[in-house]
Amino acid sequence: SSSITSAETVEHFFHVQNLTVQRLCHEQVITTVNGTLPGPVISVREGDDLVIHVVNQSPYNITIHWHGVFQLLSAWADGPSYVTQCPIRPGQTYAYRFKITGQEGTLWWHAHVSWLRATVYGALIIKPRFGNFYQFPSPYEEFPILLGEYWDANVVDVENQGLATGAAPNISDAFTINGQPGDLYPCSQTGTYKLEVIQGKTYMLRIINAALNNQLFFKIANHKMKVVAIDAAYTAPYVTDVIVLSPGQTTDVLFTADQPVGSYYMAARPYITAQGIPFDNTTASGIIVYRDAKSLATPIMPALPAFNDTPTAYKFYSNLTGFPLGPHWVPVPRQVDEHMFITFGINLAPCGEGSAACAGPFGQRLSASMNNESFQLPSKLSMLQAFFYNNKSGVYTTDFPDNPPSVFDYTNSSNAFNQSMLFAPKSTKVRTLKFGSIVEIVLQNTALIATESHPIHFHGFNFHVLAQGFGNYDSVKDPRKFNLVNPQMRNTIAVPTGGWAVIRFTAKNPGIWMVHCHLDVHLPWGLGMAFEVENGPYSTLPPPPNDLPKC
Ligand code: C2O
Repeated sequence: SSSITSAETVEHFFHVQNLTVQRLCHEQVITTVNGTLPGPVISVREGDDLVIHVVNQSPYNITIHWHGVFQLLSAWADGPSYVTQCPIRPGQTYAYRFKITGQEGTLWWHAHVSWLRATVYGALIIKPRFGNFYQFPSPYEEFPILLGEYWDANVVDVENQGLATGAAPNISDAFTINGQPGDLYPCSQTGTYKLEVIQGKTYMLRIINAALNNQLFFKIANHKMKVVAIDAAYTAPYVTDVIVLSPGQTTDVLFTADQPVGSYYMAARPYITAQGIPFDNTTASGIIVYRDAKSLATPIMPALPAFNDTPTAYKFYSNLTGFPLGPHWVPVPRQVDEHMFITFGINLAPCGEGSAACAGPFGQRLSASMNNESFQLPSKLSMLQAFFYNNKSGVYTTDFPDNPPSVFDYTNSSNAFNQSMLFAPKSTKVRTLKFGSIVEIVLQNTALIATESHPIHFHGFNFHVLAQGFGNYDSVKDPRKFNLVNPQMRNTIAVPTGGWAVIRFTAKNPGIWMVHCHLDVHLPWGLGMAFEVENGPYSTLPPPPNDLPKC
């Protein structure tokens, strides 16, 4: 018997295939899902089961990650290559099977191998179950807004060239809104994303930062936005005229078409924290057109913050709070079982490893680390298979340190240059957690090569953001600032530049869960680690599906 409240199984086929597109006055072959950029929107209700058959018709190894999905007892579907699965090889198929529970709002999916997520990504929208409703008046219409980053080149080549020389890979050529750079770029006018609205109606934008390497400011000319959710967790309503998102983050906003009939740009451009490093200093735009607006009028452009406007970014990021009155709120766990202090940033690797060329700073190669361990992916087996079969030797070790090897002034690069910390050893280390343990982590940026805001993403868990700030974390004073009442919940936090954040989560999902910087340029350099969460008494990771790709 079926009732209107019953969950459904939502099934999709993802054909990963190369496609020739026209962007920025050139033709370029990109890798896409089902021949579109962005790829298909997956729309489900909380409680639904998903089956997504990924058919790899591209020339590359592929995996898909369902960014922010808890994957409760379905770690085999999480997607990071060599962490939870070996890649799907050209010509092969793998079905990702998982359930969406305990979260509503906007998530997304993306390739989790090499730099392919530059063009292999799409929205994952989770609506309330049948019979449940938003905690705010229902918008007249909803639109996914995917902010992307585009190279007028093959992105796998761009990444590999960077890795071969040891220097930073080439910066992008454009930012995009729903796959289109917008009419501020050459040859981009006809494709510009347009959204039609009716005066007086309220709309929801589900904004996703799918860019590879840049945090982005986003603004709509002359319109305020009301934030109602971030990373598929409801927030207390927060009204603002500008938002900022790091790669990996999502923000759901309501806006009312309350301005004179006309057309208004929405625009996105980078928020950059690393000083003196080249970046793509361009602006993506789309157009909000009121019904009956004169089509020839030039849209009104919003004044976006300067690229280095840290006060504006920090104000937005730190003012958001959770929404204890809303659905799926999780109270902050109080008894902490495990305390960790994790530093991260850019390092150097000795010249000569794997390549004669060493075009990084000081004639070395760029690398990156967490607690001075530079994370390397295994290749003979995925970490999750090693976990499940208890066959870890040669795949990973369980000695990821709870603290950095030395304490120093993390925000002062001249101080840091005296440290042995500049070079980080390569390893594949995890931190083992007992099922159900409550973990508190101080996330601290370092300034070894550059002072930056790293967006740290946790697979498998949302966390509460208890506090954040600039400078070195102070273990005496800063805990007094902890918000244990209504902190924001997220899966990705942009740790303030030259600063820190404290997060807390409960490890109640067995498997291997990656934690890493969501600036893709830092990932192959090693800015990551993983948690190994043991099985619980009544909570055991099931065996791998039969079609799990082989290494
Ligand atoms: Cu959205 Cu491990 O990534």
